[in-house]
Amino acid sequence: MEFPKKLYQKITQREAQNSLRRLGKENSLIDFSSNDYLGFAKSEVLFDKTHKFLVDNNSKINGATGSRLLSGNHKLYTIVEKQLAKLHNSETSLIFNSGYDANIGFFASVPQRGDVILYDELIHASIRDGIQLSNAKSFKFKHNDTKDLEEKILRFTQNNDSEVYVITESVFSMDGDSPDLIAMSQIIKKHTNVHFVIDEAHALGVFDFGLVQKLHLENDIFARIITFGKGLGCHGAAILGSGQLQQYLVNFSRSFIYTTGLSPHALATIKIAYEELAISNSKAQLLQNIQHFISESNRLKLNFIKSNSAIHCCIISGNEHVKSIALQLQQHGFEVKPILSPTVPINQERLRFCLHAYNSKEEITNVLKNLATFV
Ligand SMILES: Cc1ncc(COP(=O)(O)O)c(C=O)c1O
Repeated sequence: MEFPKKLYQKITQREAQNSLRRLGKENSLIDFSSNDYLGFAKSEVLFDKTHKFLVDNNSKINGATGSRLLSGNHKLYTIVEKQLAKLHNSETSLIFNSGYDANIGFFASVPQRGDVILYDELIHASIRDGIQLSNAKSFKFKHNDTKDLEEKILRFTQNNDSEVYVITESVFSMDGDSPDLIAMSQIIKKHTNVHFVIDEAHALGVFDFGLVQKLHLENDIFARIITFGKGLGCHGAAILGSGQLQQYLVNFSRSFIYTTGLSPHALATIKIAYEELAISNSKAQLLQNIQHFISESNRLKLNFIKSNSAIHCCIISGNEHVKSIALQLQQHGFEVKPILSPTVPINQERLRFCLHAYNSKEEITNVLKNLATFV
């Protein structure tokens, strides 16, 4: 059977642009790439406690058996959703199978025809995809630019009774930086029909329960998207918000409705990961490593995007150039990934360093010293 010509052309075009994606292999390099910021994905303690919890609760079931609206809403969902709402100071929480599902489910269903979505120009692909599925009009504002956001809000709230949804990330996945959430919230609060939505994927676990809570903004946010596949080292996501929002999503969010629920094991892992988060000293180790990375990169005069999070990026323009530097670092034993265009804009290609509680200070200094000799 012949492979469709148009698809073949797209693949060859990617090859020509040096941006063809390939699946990676497991390796034993020093990890500066995974999202397992606190080391929970590899935690035997978490694995053993989860197993014990399931056995003690006689929950020896492998799968959810159906959509949550049919047979899949097993009792662990209620337990974990209550736990999440309490820990995150939210009226309710609703678990989705992944952050991708949560974002497309929210944006495809909540903003209505005639409404407006204002999104940061560097927003994550899952939010962009959700926006594409929406009937609302969407406009970008400049990255982390409060003034531009305010201008756009004024433009779209004048003589208009439509709802406006503003979406940003509390830690940007490809830059590691954060917007001024307090300033944005002050602007948004002036308008009753403007609703603030924040994706906390890369803040949860790194900044305790996320930046919204750190800044005491819970009551000003319409919806928070939290994901468990990063700082918590497991899988799944939740939308935090009001009871009415939860009820709406259960009724209209298609990525929530038309899919098999998570397994009891996945939910038990989320439950235990939160318990571990409360007692683990990995958070303190991670914060120390972040400070060490920042001071070492300054000492070596390396040019990184300003960030206090676990993600630190060094812009190296050109797919070929950034790939060759990543390869050199990999050959010296460090797993550092190049982020290529079109994932990021052309000329904004970068090396993305993810820091972890389990990276040693020596590993951090060494990877940066190596980088300094290659750039
Ligand atoms: C900002 C952001 N939101 C959502 C997601 C999707 O989350 P998940 O991996 O759980 O699908 C990601 C993952 O890369 C992300 O970086």
